[in-house]
Amino acid sequence: MNSTWWHDKVAYQIYPKSFYDSNGDGIGDIPGIIARLDYLKDLGVDIVWLSPVYRSPLADQGYDISDYYNIDPRFGTMEDMDRLLAEAKKRDMYIVMDLVVNHCSDEHAWFKKACEDPEGQYGQYFYLRRLKKAAAPEGTAYAVTSPDGYVLPCNWRSYFGGPVWEKLPGHEDWYYLHVFHKKQPDLNWENPRVREEIYTMINWWLDRGLAGFRIDAIINIKKALPFRNYAPDRADGLCSIHTMLREASGVGEFLGEMRDRTFAPHNAFTVGEVFGEKEEELPDFIGKNGYFSTMFDFSEAIWGSSPAGWHANQGITPDAYRSCLFSAQKKFNAVGFISNIIENHDEPRGATRYIPAADRKQMDERMLTTAKKALATVYFLAKGLPWIYQGQEIGMENLPLHSIDEVDDVSSIDAWNVMRELGVSEADALRAIERNGRDNARTPFQWSAAENAGFTTGSPWLRVNPDYSQINLDRQQPDPDSVYNHYKKLIALRKDPQYRDPLVRGSFEPWLEDEHNVIAYLRRSEVPTSQTILVISNYQLQPRVLPLPAPARRVLLNNCTKPVIQPGKRQVSLGGYQTLVLELDM
Ligand code: NOJ
Repeated sequence: MNSTWWHDKVAYQIYPKSFYDSNGDGIGDIPGIIARLDYLKDLGVDIVWLSPVYRSPLADQGYDISDYYNIDPRFGTMEDMDRLLAEAKKRDMYIVMDLVVNHCSDEHAWFKKACEDPEGQYGQYFYLRRLKKAAAPEGTAYAVTSPDGYVLPCNWRSYFGGPVWEKLPGHEDWYYLHVFHKKQPDLNWENPRVREEIYTMINWWLDRGLAGFRIDAIINIKKALPFRNYAPDRADGLCSIHTMLREASGVGEFLGEMRDRTFAPHNAFTVGEVFGEKEEELPDFIGKNGYFSTMFDFSEAIWGSSPAGWHANQGITPDAYRSCLFSAQKKFNAVGFISNIIENHDEPRGATRYIPAADRKQMDERMLTTAKKALATVYFLAKGLPWIYQGQEIGMENLPLHSIDEVDDVSSIDAWNVMRELGVSEADALRAIERNGRDNARTPFQWSAAENAGFTTGSPWLRVNPDYSQINLDRQQPDPDSVYNHYKKLIALRKDPQYRDPLVRGSFEPWLEDEHNVIAYLRRSEVPTSQTILVISNYQLQPRVLPLPAPARRVLLNNCTKPVIQPGKRQVSLGGYQTLVLELDM
């Protein structure tokens, strides 16, 4: 996918359930998105990715699709979707939907038919196995049995906990595979009929005017077959799915076929959710004629995560953040155009995760705003397509928890069970969910200080973050120094024809890479003229003086009011978390 029309664009993720509720049922919807398109346009957004709005039981909040050709009534109708596509087009905006095809819902017609006749055509759409109660064959190490004694085909642990095998409804000895929730049976990509169904569906949507897709969990479509057990990595006797994925090879054949049959003929924009990619395969993924236009860089997001459980995850330091950012830049820029994020609907809020807790404790509101703007600047101006997750532009934060009963997210509940079984105290387990859980990103968008943050006139499906009277869009829009207005300036700067060459296509070169708590880099272009921009952040509370590679010609952005440059000087004095974008004289 070598088209590059999207390189100078800015992308935004909407989590529809929590964006804006137009009808007072407590659930955000498509008419709510249409009502806020002008807000996004004014912010400077071009590409909008919608998390799933297809018909779904919402067991995993829409990532369990029961009908790919319909909109869930809670989100609206197909007419609403068509209207959204038309309204976006009017504004030169592009709508991207989520493509969830590793699995569907157990309420999808295909699965229901598979349950009726596991040996029939639809049985082949999934991974179904008829199991025996007999002891595992001689030489089968690590075999795991179901509670009623059936020997499972393999001991993989589902992403949301427990074995990947579940009894097929209506049957005693048939089981099906689900690498995510048991309501998300995996589709059998080895079956050409399944692939045909998927390609037909993708083309149907692209023909409707969709610009492309964010492609969910795609690396999982290729299983290491035949099923076998691996050495267990926890006391449950199971092994992480990643162990199997490392061994699975050949996903490229499916992805190349999907590209050729769907995305390429439509010149569609695609962004892959790819974890654990093999470095030598990167050019196949996002190089010239890669499977996808781009893919997300998750290196910062996964840093410090422990296989032992969420309680053992480490908080990321500024130096670790920098090292993730810089090594991803090095790795991906050599191959293609990466997608840069600090948040999405599966991650904690960036403003909480990437500003050290010890620093946050010492910050007043003004300093916290400065730090949020520092974070925004350093990730946004790195090379690649910048993505903003809803609410990030106003610096929304993690949700405080009082009890596990307040938690909605299935993966947090699994993590809670794992931690409790390991003997982690309730209080520590709750703190771990507060730091890592997916509800953090899913609380309703904070539009105003009105009731329910202006998200709904009804009762919101998920608790509004109690900080909404402080952190909300209404309060930030008129304030020139707000986080929101800083994002607006960043977007405007990246799109400014005077700086677009270095900031969009220019090279990325680290500066002061070994300096503790400094995140700094150069963006340079040689054509049509030579231009060098320096992004430099004093990512700590203590002020300091830092060297510059050349005197600054102009300050393009400053995240606080403290004045900065002295003409002709090769150094700059920065306050706590002060971050500058400078045009250099070189
Ligand atoms: C990744 C999605 O982002 C996440 O929300 C979902 O639970 C899994 N894939 C399964 O579809």
